Amino acid sequence: MLNEQLRHMLQAMPKAELHIHIEGSLEPELIFELAQRNRVALPYASVEALRQAYAFTDLQSFLDIYYAGASVLLTEQDFYDMTMAYLRRAAADNVRHAEIFFDPQTHTARGVPFKTVVDGIWRACQDGPISATLIMCFLRHLSEDDAIATLEEALPFRDKLIGVGLDSSEVGHPPEKFARVFERARNLGLHLVAHAGEEGPPAYIESALDVLNVERIDHGVRCLEDPDLTARLVREQMALTVCPLSNIKLRVFDVMGDSNLRRLLDAGLVATLNSDDPAYFGGYINDNYLAAFDALPLDVDHARQLAKNSFAAAFLEPERKRAYLAEVDAFFDAAQAA
Ligand code: ADE
Ligand code: ZN
Repeated sequence: MLNEQLRHMLQAMPKAELHIHIEGSLEPELIFELAQRNRVALPYASVEALRQAYAFTDLQSFLDIYYAGASVLLTEQDFYDMTMAYLRRAAADNVRHAEIFFDPQTHTARGVPFKTVVDGIWRACQDGPISATLIMCFLRHLSEDDAIATLEEALPFRDKLIGVGLDSSEVGHPPEKFARVFERARNLGLHLVAHAGEEGPPAYIESALDVLNVERIDHGVRCLEDPDLTARLVREQMALTVCPLSNIKLRVFDVMGDSNLRRLLDAGLVATLNSDDPAYFGGYINDNYLAAFDALPLDVDHARQLAKNSFAAAFLEPERKRAYLAEVDAFFDAAQAA
């Protein structure tokens, strides 16, 4: 349960965010502003009408609206403004470091050049108030050939990326569909992650590990359905980027009290807490911490563990990782001594 002291600690503690789709940070107000700026017609009369449409029944019902929202992004400045708004908001939540997903195919399919997308997002990361790096995601509802062509298009921008990921409609699009493109990305020295076990079965988590060789699993909450897989994830200390508000909005769990976050931590899994698509799911990272700790039996030791897991699982130089982990311990030691 959440008392005032724990609430303050959750908000103030240093943390990393490892699962945030930058297109999912596009607030309705900014969607309308960009639509006006770019003379794009929207099928919603107002910001309020758009917000009203955010009543999702599953992942696909969300993705349909999420891709429609992204259609207002046309210029490098649009991508810059979206990213800068997220970085400022994350800084206010005491996020020290963010590893940001973006979906280039959503934009290149509309005729927006790859360079416009990457340059806008990347320039904001250079100018923004916190450390931020980029993970390019492939849309799994499209073909592997399309993903391979996207990776080829990214080659001139290799230095602006730390990794590749896999997102969009999960069920029916298993990780093994993308074996070759992940192999190619691995040979380029990119880090590898994939959404698995959000709506899809535990077998998708297994094939993300065995076929794609990923280093983190995005969501992964369905792993507990398979005890052998759970034991393996613990043994390998494989991080899961869990997104509690997302799981409720997309009906993975009915209510926050049903979230398995506490059980994941009890099992010894390296769970981290993240916002996924904050503009669509009712909150940024601290809103996720507060909602989860309000509904679940989580205490200050879980808060420290989650903050440490977020840095331990980040794609950071060992020295920076150690410094952030020390900062977390110093924060909690001071707060608990007071
Ligand atoms: N794209 C944006 N958010 C996503 C999610 N939660 N799952 C899969 N694809 C996504
Ligand atoms: Zn996601």
